[in-house]
Amino acid sequence: MQDLKQKYNIIVAIGANYEIGDGEDLLWHLPADMKFFKETTKGADVIMGRKTYESIPKKFRPLPGRTNIVITRNKNYVAEDGVYISNTLKDAFEIAENCSTTNKFIIGGGSIYESTLNYAHTLYVTHVHKAFKNANTFFPIIDASVWKETSREDFKADEKNKFEYSFVKYEKI
Ligand SMILES: NC(=O)c1ccc[n+]([C@@H]2O[C@H](COP(=O)([O-])OP(=O)(O)OC[C@H]3O[C@@H](n4cnc5c(N)ncnc54)[C@H](OP(=O)(O)O)[C@@H]3O)[C@@H](O)[C@H]2O)c1
Repeated sequence: MQDLKQKYNIIVAIGANYEIGDGEDLLWHLPADMKFFKETTKGADVIMGRKTYESIPKKFRPLPGRTNIVITRNKNYVAEDGVYISNTLKDAFEIAENCSTTNKFIIGGGSIYESTLNYAHTLYVTHVHKAFKNANTFFPIIDASVWKETSREDFKADEKNKFEYSFVKYEKI
């Protein structure tokens, strides 16, 4: 996988302790982040683990307007029409490399972030400025000697979004 031709982005929302989920779902409801995710990944190839795919409500999957690539070790896995299934990370990247879309995103979850962080060039991180107790899935530490913050937008909580949050872009140094 050293010879990936395309540039891969990671998109993730992270709590104050690097938590991203409880194993089945997100830990927060932040419509502003949902909107950001939708706009940022529009038209892209999205690579995700089987658990993340299944965490998407049925009526929203496959994620519309995007090429959905799901990774599972289950050779008999069946998903909705139009979804690409891959049994290894290598296959998932191969499918993405062969798609004509130039925008490629890894969208989780924890196990997939862990094994793909090294292959990413850019991280789109929503930092949710609160710690969540019921987390059991985490994002790897963003090492400041590897990743440089290149843009940041900070937001206060509001009626719809109960927590302060920031959209931060990191690029590999
Ligand atoms: N905050 C965020 O931005 C964000 C984003 C995405 C997800 N999440 C959260 O993250 C949690 C899910 O993360 P997770 O780590 O539990 O699961 P996951 O990474 O979404 O999926 C794990 C599954 O992917 C497959 N898989 C992983 N590595 C593989 C490999 N090398 N080869 C083949 N298949 C592989 C396996 O599927 P099989 O078991 O089928 O073999 C594995 O059980 C949920 O709580 C979700 O809400 C949060």
